[in-house]
Amino acid sequence: MRKSQNENFNYALFGNPIDHSKSPQIHNLFSEQTKILHIYKAINIPLDQFSSLISDFFKNNIQGANITSPFKKEAYLFADKLSERARIAKSVNTLKKINNKYILGDNTDGIGLLSDLNRLKFIKKNSSVLILGAGGAVQGILLSILSLGCSVYILNRTTLKSINLVNQFKQYGNIKIFEKDNMMKNKSFDLVINGISRNIQYNTSFIPLHLFSSHTFFYDMNYSFKNTTFLDWCIKIGANHISDGIGMLVFQAAYSFLEWHGILPKTDYIIDVLSKN
Ligand SMILES: NC(=O)c1ccc[n+]([C@@H]2O[C@H](COP(=O)([O-])OP(=O)(O)OC[C@H]3O[C@@H](n4cnc5c(N)ncnc54)[C@H](OP(=O)(O)O)[C@@H]3O)[C@@H](O)[C@H]2O)c1
Repeated sequence: MRKSQNENFNYALFGNPIDHSKSPQIHNLFSEQTKILHIYKAINIPLDQFSSLISDFFKNNIQGANITSPFKKEAYLFADKLSERARIAKSVNTLKKINNKYILGDNTDGIGLLSDLNRLKFIKKNSSVLILGAGGAVQGILLSILSLGCSVYILNRTTLKSINLVNQFKQYGNIKIFEKDNMMKNKSFDLVINGISRNIQYNTSFIPLHLFSSHTFFYDMNYSFKNTTFLDWCIKIGANHISDGIGMLVFQAAYSFLEWHGILPKTDYIIDVLSKN
């Protein structure tokens, strides 16, 4: 059964849930643009079956895969070899079968996010950045942000995960846990990045308003056909500069495509198309 499903495509996205993913549409556009045969499907994986199913897919036709929430850590453990950025992140969003011998794990979330923040002019060297969340995506982006010389504060529901991230990344730059009461009263963040995967109730007891200014940029790694809950809240508190994560999605996909095929597809017109849908 799985073999016949597998015969029709050679690249895939594995996650749970993946129902509304725009990745197949993006990869179809890359395939059209580059004329490379690249048939990409989104596949929902039961939460307890990641490694057995991925092994089966790679034994068959699959040449490469993207991995999304909540499997990036499992993909990191599954890969036989790792790129430098995936090794440091301990999180994998891209797998590639090499010479039918082994599976390489990479992470393109960091370069994807940074490319979009640069496109939007949302980030500068030394920006002060508040990151909400400490999951696989945040692990994937931290090295890129810290490498730019930014100071990073992490705020996550589960404090232990924030502590672990700070310990994991402190050798790469200035990273701290966000502690509301210890923030300087006259300091505001240049950029806030949301990496929380669920729609939660954002309010000012969560993050005090004095930590934002009219110059603060707000970036939600999530995206939706209308504003995300986070961006709705940002507008309510007076944000002037907001963006969802469509651009990041397209850029991280483009860098996965580069890993698989050696060509970096053009992205601008695809971001425009998807932003309008
Ligand atoms: N645009 C893009 O290209 C792109 C790329 C990657 C990811 N993303 C998006 O980024 C989001 C995060 O992905 P991920 O891979 O990091 O997911 P993940 O590993 O499952 O992490 C989820 C994060 O959300 C937090 N969270 C979940 N439910 C919460 C709740 N009810 N209240 C407060 N916090 C909650 C978790 O906190 P705890 O640690 O306390 O559980 C954790 O920090 C996803 O929505 C994903 O679609 C977008």
